Amino acid sequence: MAENIHPIFDKILNTQQKEELLKQKSLVIWMVGLSGSGKSTVARGLENKLHEEGYLTSLLDGDNLRTGLNNNLGFSEEDRTENIRRAAEASKLLAANGVITICSLISPTEKIRKMAADIIGDKYCEVFIDCPLEECEKRDVKGLYAKARRGEIKSFTGIDSPFEAPQNPHVRLATAEEPVEDSLSKLLEYILPKIKLSKN
Ligand code: ADX
Repeated sequence: MAENIHPIFDKILNTQQKEELLKQKSLVIWMVGLSGSGKSTVARGLENKLHEEGYLTSLLDGDNLRTGLNNNLGFSEEDRTENIRRAAEASKLLAANGVITICSLISPTEKIRKMAADIIGDKYCEVFIDCPLEECEKRDVKGLYAKARRGEIKSFTGIDSPFEAPQNPHVRLATAEEPVEDSLSKLLEYILPKIKLSKN
């Protein structure tokens, strides 16, 4: 199969040309965390702030992707791997076109996150939305933890499916310990210098 594929990567406009047009440097901001940890809230807050500042962003949310691109995938280890692989490949395409891409997916294991990081390369920026399971379960915004405890959802992350906390994220945000505005300020402090296009 591969021998019949003839990519034209070298003949299409490159990332730098897109970044100059958009006056920004692209980055993939990959939010990792349990369901209910605050990933989507931080992701949406970040997107709004960047939009106000004039940056072009794209937000890829796990639940959203699972209604379209990834609507044939479930929550087995194999399906989660494919879910993350597609999200990482989509992010890579967006970043190659200069777009600052914010991803919000549980991404439960070191192995899965390494795959995403390897696909995306040096534009990968890992943000751990660090909220204890007890707190996520107490919040239970979507009522899914209660269902998982009753056995109505199988392989639920943190209950009967593993979650490995990232050991070396670029940024760690403790959403149970501080208001979302504080988390956003910390995140912006890290991200803004990376997406600014230096004029030299
Ligand atoms: S991931 O593990 O493959 O990265 P993803 O972020 O796409 O997960 O989807 C997680 C979302 O799917 C959760 O926020 C929740 O709304 C929903 N969901 C439904 N079933 C499960 C499950 N078994 N485990 C985790 N999340 C689930």
